[in-house]
This record gives sequence, C-alpha cells and structure tokens, in this order.
Amino acid sequence: MNRFADMNRFEGVRTIVTGAGGGIGHAVAARLANEGAHVVGMDLRVDGIDQAGTKLALECDVSDASVVDAAIEQAVATLGGLDLVCNIAGIGHFCTTHEETAEAFAKIVGVNLNGTFHVCRAALPHLLANGEAGGAIVNTASTAGLMGQPWSAAYCASKGGVVLLTKALATEYADKNIRVNAVAPGGTNTAIQQSFASTFPSDATNKKIAKMMSTMGMAEPDEMAATFAYVASPEARFMTGAIVTVDGGITA
Ligand SMILES: NC(=O)c1ccc[n+]([C@@H]2O[C@H](COP(=O)([O-])OP(=O)(O)OC[C@H]3O[C@@H](n4cnc5c(N)ncnc54)[C@H](O)[C@@H]3O)[C@@H](O)[C@H]2O)c1
Repeated sequence: MNRFADMNRFEGVRTIVTGAGGGIGHAVAARLANEGAHVVGMDLRVDGIDQAGTKLALECDVSDASVVDAAIEQAVATLGGLDLVCNIAGIGHFCTTHEETAEAFAKIVGVNLNGTFHVCRAALPHLLANGEAGGAIVNTASTAGLMGQPWSAAYCASKGGVVLLTKALATEYADKNIRVNAVAPGGTNTAIQQSFASTFPSDATNKKIAKMMSTMGMAEPDEMAATFAYVASPEARFMTGAIVTVDGGITA
C-alpha cells in the first residue's frame, strides 16, 4: 500500500505514464490514479501495468516514433484530451566503454533519450490544445545524467540528454503554461538495478562503486512516486526546467 497517498491533487487529470509496467513507473501510475488521475499506462510489457488502476494499458515501444505517435493518439482518444505526461520508461546496463557495441549504445540512447523526445513531441500538440490551462511533463533523468558514472557511457549520455531536453522544452513552452521538469532518482529498488548488477565488470573497484551508492541505502519506488506527484501537481506551479534529485545525497 502506498505510504504517501493521502491527497487528492489529480482529480480527473488526463495522464499518460510510460514505463508503467514496472518499478517507478508502476508506482507513479498507482500514485496518480490514487489521487484521482485518469491514467493510460504504456510499456513494452503490458502485463505489468495495473489494469485496475488505469483506464487503458497500451503496449508501446517508446524508441519507435511511429508506434509512439499511434499510442499517444489512442491514449488521448480514450482520455478525451491530455494534461500530464510522465516519461519513465528506461533501460541501462554496465559495460566497459571500449567493449560497448554501437548497437547497445544506440539502444540505450534510443529508449531513454529518443523515447522521451518521441513521447514529448507527440504529446505537446495535445497539451497546447488546452490553451491557458496548459499541462505538465515530468521526465526521468538520473544521478547518471548529472555526474559521470563508470561503465555507463550510454546511460550517462542518454540521461544527460534528458536533462537538457527537459530544460530546452521548459524554456520553449513556459509561456504556454506547459511545465517541463525531470526527477533524477538515485538507486531505487527496481528491476533495472538487476540489469546493472548482472553486468558489473569483473574488475570493478570499491572506490568506483562507492561513488554510485548512497550511504542511506536504496530508495523504494513509492518514494520516487511521491516526488513525481509533487512535481506534476499544481503545488509546483512555478517549477519548470527543474531537475529534482532524490538520491540519498549522491550528487550533494
Ligand atoms: N531504479 C533506479 O535505481 C533508477 C535510478 C535512476 C534513474 N532510474 C530511471 O527510472 C526509470 C524507471 O526505471 P525503474 O527503476 O523503474 O526500472 P524498471 O526496469 O523496473 O522499469 C522500467 C520500465 O520501462 C519499460 N521499458 C523498457 N524499455 C521500454 C521501451 N522501449 N518502451 C516502453 N517501455 C519500456 C520496462 O518494461 C519497465 O517496465 C528509468 O528511466 C530509469 O533509467 C532508475
């Protein structure tokens, strides 16, 4: 059960959450729905999306622009418009950079960065159609988008790209009342941690690993969801272009 869901800030807010089939995206979709949002969840794995809490679960590979265009149209038709987009789908692994393949690099950037762009591009005309009421986008960066992290060239590049994509859109659409921010999580207890843990280089040193770990341990997905919800909510009306770290002090 959600530890933080005692508010009701999203009554009827028409919302798309990508990556809703797992981890942080699942927790965000549940949190927003608990607070009254009408949520369409999108993911590669539609079976992981909470069917009870969402209006529609859509299979969508965010790295494919034409698939995204069609999915956003279907979501908007179901919701009767669009107010809020949370871009949370993401992948990553560790690999020493001189051994990384061009395909793996392109895949990580294709999902994390291009995917975020595809969804924003397809969603923006619908947010603009709200006129004065505007809308909000919350992207997912990472501590790895704000500082270097070993064995993570593709992941760092993709998340660094998300940081400046977010800021670019924030400046471009502020006068249209469309807020664009990103949450930058630190280590959070989800499946993506397994993809990283299972690809740990054999020569990893404690010193390099320590740089990526908070002395506070790991966060839980519902703690990230609480931050996404605040950033998405009207309480954060004056917040745009912000990269909100929730990382146990890693980037402090
Ligand atoms: N967990 C962490 O420690 C951590 C830290 C910093 C940032 N993040 C970011 O948070 C976001 C959520 O990750 P998570 O920790 O919940 O991991 P997760 O693996 O549990 O969830 C990611 C979800 O994205 C989906 N997905 C993957 N590729 C996709 C694609 N091409 N199209 C649509 N959906 C796709 C997966 O199926 C999965 O359901 C990611 O962007 C990740 O980079 C996570």
